[in-house]
Amino acid sequence: MIDKTTVAKILDTADIVEVVSDFVSLRRRGANYIGLCPFHNEKTPSFSVSKAKGICHCFSCGKGGSPVGFIMEHEQLSYAEALRYLAKKYHIEIVEKELTDEERIAQSERESMFLVNEFASKHFEEKLYETEDGRDIGLSYFYERGFSDQVIKKFHLGYSLDNNNALFKEAVAKGYNKKYLFDTGLCIDDSRGGGYDRFKGRVMFPVLNIAGKVIAFSGRTLKADQAKYVNSPESILYKKSNELYGLYQAKQSIVKKDKCFLVEGNADVVSMHQAGFDNTIASLGTALTVNQVRLIHRFTENVTILYDGDSAGIKAALRAINLLLPEGLNIKVLLLPDGEDPDSFSRKHSASEFQEYIDNNEVDFVRFMKQMLLNDAKNDPIKRASVIGDVVTSISLIPFDIPRSIYTKECSELFEIDEKVLLREVRKKINLNQKKEFEKKEKKDIDDIPEIPNSNIDQADYNIPEIEHRKDLENSDKATDLNSQLLYPHEKDIIKYIVKFGMVDFCKDNNEESTISLLKYISEELSVDEISFTCPIFDKIYNVCQSYVQDYENEKPDFLLKLQRELDKIREEGYRSIQEEILNMQDIEKKEKDLNDSIKLHYKTSLQEYQKYFLEKKLTSHPDDEIRKISLELISEKHSLSKIHTKYGSIKTDLDKLDILVPQAIYNLKDALILCHIKETQRELIEKKDNTDELLKYLQELYDLRRELAKYLGDRVVNPKN
Ligand code: CTP
Ligand code: MN
Repeated sequence: MIDKTTVAKILDTADIVEVVSDFVSLRRRGANYIGLCPFHNEKTPSFSVSKAKGICHCFSCGKGGSPVGFIMEHEQLSYAEALRYLAKKYHIEIVEKELTDEERIAQSERESMFLVNEFASKHFEEKLYETEDGRDIGLSYFYERGFSDQVIKKFHLGYSLDNNNALFKEAVAKGYNKKYLFDTGLCIDDSRGGGYDRFKGRVMFPVLNIAGKVIAFSGRTLKADQAKYVNSPESILYKKSNELYGLYQAKQSIVKKDKCFLVEGNADVVSMHQAGFDNTIASLGTALTVNQVRLIHRFTENVTILYDGDSAGIKAALRAINLLLPEGLNIKVLLLPDGEDPDSFSRKHSASEFQEYIDNNEVDFVRFMKQMLLNDAKNDPIKRASVIGDVVTSISLIPFDIPRSIYTKECSELFEIDEKVLLREVRKKINLNQKKEFEKKEKKDIDDIPEIPNSNIDQADYNIPEIEHRKDLENSDKATDLNSQLLYPHEKDIIKYIVKFGMVDFCKDNNEESTISLLKYISEELSVDEISFTCPIFDKIYNVCQSYVQDYENEKPDFLLKLQRELDKIREEGYRSIQEEILNMQDIEKKEKDLNDSIKLHYKTSLQEYQKYFLEKKLTSHPDDEIRKISLELISEKHSLSKIHTKYGSIKTDLDKLDILVPQAIYNLKDALILCHIKETQRELIEKKDNTDELLKYLQELYDLRRELAKYLGDRVVNPKN
């Protein structure tokens, strides 16, 4: 368990931009940062990160959150795991208590598998350097291939002893559960209570996920009579079509160089990094998949395919091109001289020679296709036509107009074909693709259960009252169903103001001595009329916010102290610089006044900022999934233009308009409540045949009350149609 102060420290330290940047390449746009959303496939960025608010959010799919929320979602971690992740990133110490055997078993399956993998990776690394066999067999093999100690360490390469169960025995002795040794595929159950090592006698390439955790292994044999590679089986940690070998080590360089090299083998990746091309990755022994392409696209748009020059390599490259193009990537291909792969080539040439070779031989995909395909088409017009058809097919996969027309033009020049003819062909193909896509989609719609549409607050919450509906129906109270629909938008408005501005000083209390917060104002307004939230999640958030009031009181003095120190420094420096200037008395007085005014303003805005984000920060980092999700949606919601705009002409921020917006929201809710009562009474009136006088009287009272309330609402006219 992590104690409260550590949690607060982690939440305070974690910077959303830094946290997200480990996974998404971000660009600055105004006050925010944007990038391609890591939660869904997209070609233009809609994932926005706000440093000030400390949250990220996708405007398209709605996912995102605070640093904790983001890590939970992205890495599929529990709340505690995500906190540990952030603590590790920011070197914040968490005092761990020693796990008992029972707790070890109780830990989540995933976490246990990660732990076993982590242990095995360390085990193999250790054996490589610290055993005789490791050094004589494994390490010397790597050295022979030209790998330096540095690159061996970078990729955590290792050696699995040529022994039936070296890993199994050591892991079991250390208290690791056999189940996870089998689940990860590191060991194989011998069905006699023991197990043997899958990778015995192999040099080991651990496969890391994007966050740097070990999810699988690739073991290369050093013997002639075995399959060259043995790989971990797929597991809940490892889906090989979703991972790329070397991405963790390469991702920063890929972003920096805004380019990545795609090679075929693990050894190629290591060699390329060794040669200084540290933006190199490989698909894990499989043909490239769409998911892998999308993973690449998070970091760059520029991919150079660097496959072997043999026919298998060419075929794989052609296939990769058609996968990469529809995702909007720019593709170049680099073929190495016959019989070479990146590994052998990089060993024979210096880095600068290699770079020179790249610069001279890297070609775009149209040129590459022409070179490859025309080799055997030569002058045969039929073959030639089919080659052109293939190129047109590839061009038609490009999702953007401008690059598509550029490549069409290039194709027309290279093959000496009228550009207009080509354009027509490309168009035809595009239409055909669209039709196919459409048919596929239609079929899918019939076959599959449709995907749940992207969450957005209104949809999300429709589900919530619905649970209530059912209960209500059982209680045979039809009214509540309708009521929650009437009340819901107003409850949502109010809870939104609380989440966004709850701790902001809202007004003076009655004796003008102290200020009261927006949350306090709202609570008082609601409790006078004994109103509570009917929507359960809003009620939950409301109560959680109330419980944070005490935290606010506890934490605020620290904040003020820090702020005071900062202001003192500004004041001191300000006075000093005034003194240094030679001025007359009048100027000095004026300058001093300006200084004090600006310090006052600084105090006011800093405090307001602190108050503004206080609840928001805590709620979007709350352990409860629903609270995190709904508060994020409330914060991120694009606000609708309220009536205030037209009334006052100028557009102000919500914060500036709180004094108008909040009372209005409260009155709206109260009005809706009265309306509920009116409707209920009307219903009763219809059902009851006699004794209606009392009901009629009550109804009249409600109408009066509503009219009375309308006066407060100012320009709002009670609409009798309701
Ligand atoms: N591969 C595999 N199983 C095999 C052969 C290959 O899983 N029996 C995968 C591995 O991920 C390998 C990739 O396919 O890295 C490419 O194969 P290859 O080029 O033969 O491997 P290299 O890593 O280049 O191996 P080496 O240079 O050591 O022969
Ligand atoms: Mn190779």
